[in-house]
Amino acid sequence: MHVLISGAGIAGPTLAWFLAKTGTRVTLVEKSPSLLPNGQNVDIQGSALTIIQKMGLWEQVRRFNTTEKGTKFINPTGQPFASFPITEGPGKSVSLTSDCEILRADLAAILHDATKDHPNVKYLFGTTIKDVVSNGDDSVRVELSNGAVQEFDLLVAADGQWSKVRKQCFPPESVKVLHKGNYVAYWTVPRLPKDNDWWNVYLALPSRFISIRPDPHGTIRALFSLMPCNSGQEKIWMEASKGDRQMQEALLRREFGNAGWQAKRLLNAMDQAPDFYFHEIAQVKMSKWFSSRVVCLGDAAYAPTPLTGMGTTLAIIGAYVLAGELSKLGDGEHPSRALEGYESVFRPLVDEMQQIPFFFPAIAHPETAWKRWLIQALVWAFSKVLAFPWLATKLGNEGNRENFSLPEYSSSDSKGTK
Ligand SMILES: Cc1cc2nc3c(=O)[nH]c(=O)nc-3n(C[C@H](O)[C@H](O)[C@H](O)COP(=O)(O)OP(=O)(O)OC[C@H]3O[C@@H](n4cnc5c(N)ncnc54)[C@H](O)[C@@H]3O)c2cc1C
Ligand SMILES: *[C@@H]1O[C@H](CO)[C@@H](O)[C@H](O)[C@H]1NC(C)=O
Ligand SMILES: *[C@@H]1O[C@H](CO)[C@@H](O)[C@H](O)[C@H]1NC(C)=O
Repeated sequence: MHVLISGAGIAGPTLAWFLAKTGTRVTLVEKSPSLLPNGQNVDIQGSALTIIQKMGLWEQVRRFNTTEKGTKFINPTGQPFASFPITEGPGKSVSLTSDCEILRADLAAILHDATKDHPNVKYLFGTTIKDVVSNGDDSVRVELSNGAVQEFDLLVAADGQWSKVRKQCFPPESVKVLHKGNYVAYWTVPRLPKDNDWWNVYLALPSRFISIRPDPHGTIRALFSLMPCNSGQEKIWMEASKGDRQMQEALLRREFGNAGWQAKRLLNAMDQAPDFYFHEIAQVKMSKWFSSRVVCLGDAAYAPTPLTGMGTTLAIIGAYVLAGELSKLGDGEHPSRALEGYESVFRPLVDEMQQIPFFFPAIAHPETAWKRWLIQALVWAFSKVLAFPWLATKLGNEGNRENFSLPEYSSSDSKGTK
């Protein structure tokens, strides 16, 4: 088999790893000219961790632990008023910080490194799929941005939340993009001696959220988030999310300049940041994940939003299941049986993980002083009793956020691999 994967984020390289191992040839096209440095912490939970261990990558992931100590909430005068430390040992954590926090870009680099020299794997950076010429019984034919027209046995859309391949191959009525009315921006900031190794979270009125967290590279990471309060403001943010960096920075300066705490310092570092990233929070739901020889994987198929912290976990487990189901196909068999297997095995977990309570993300973006007071009182109370109701159930007191039972595939057995 020869598989074409669009997108070298998390899902694409994980799939390539498992496919290459079973002798499948894989070509990955990635729009960006090199690996993207952007993004903040992502969680690897439950079964996804087991998969990282099967791949022999756990030690490397640990090496890039951001070593965040837990979460601290900061009050309007800039003082921490509630702390949720990580508690050592699996299953004890009710902190927003999980046992192993890693930056998205570090994880993507580990996965790329683990696959780039495999003889079955070829990466084409700065390349996209210009057109899917045909998707039929015998093959899927694509035209690449470099002009080549090529045939593959399968095309995998792992090109993220705004997947182009999904747009090219699936009718709009089969894809739902649910806007959460929330905009976020992330960037790296030089570290000062006063910075600490906690995730510091500050709520500014109205509806603004600022946080800083440590990274393993001697800098810190700022996150700004806002939920527009009215349709006029919503329109401006929506336009900015489609605009360029200059427009996005100007909007952030305008809307956060008077937010207090460390807003000014963080905004001042914005235009120097190598990794400024701005996006709208949206969830993706598809009625069916595949069409003949084209299949969607990871955020392209089921972006759960960073609010759930599950995007990376779903991308890794999804890649493992898809590779495992493909490995069960006979020689020359049409992949549809495997694609059906992937969807039926994996969809229940996706449906469960995509549930976001109605009060999210609004609870983190209070509009008025009394709501903020209420949230702060609740946060304080929870920090005392160490129970964060929704998060505690998601995190699961057994240490897993999910009770997905990972299928075993003979092909993905870890023996003899690195
Ligand atoms: C820059 C960036 C920063 C992120 N930051 C965070 C974060 O801080 N916290 C969080 O929880 N989640 C973050 N995410 C989302 C998170 O990576 C995903 O939820 C999860 O890891 C699933 O990964 P994925 O591989 O499906 O998609 P992604 O990680 O989004 O990877 C998709 C890849 O496809 C590439 N691509 C896009 N369009 C095309 C195209 N037309 N042709 C070829 N390649 C294309 C992209 O450049 C990217 O490398 C971020 C995603 C990106 C792209
Ligand atoms: C990551 O670092 C934190 C903070 O130092 C620590 O508590 C945690 O155990 C580490 N995780 C792993 C998997 O090593
Ligand atoms: C565990 O999985 C089953 C289905 O397999 C589901 O009905 C149940 O709600 C799940 N439990 C938890 C705690 O997630």
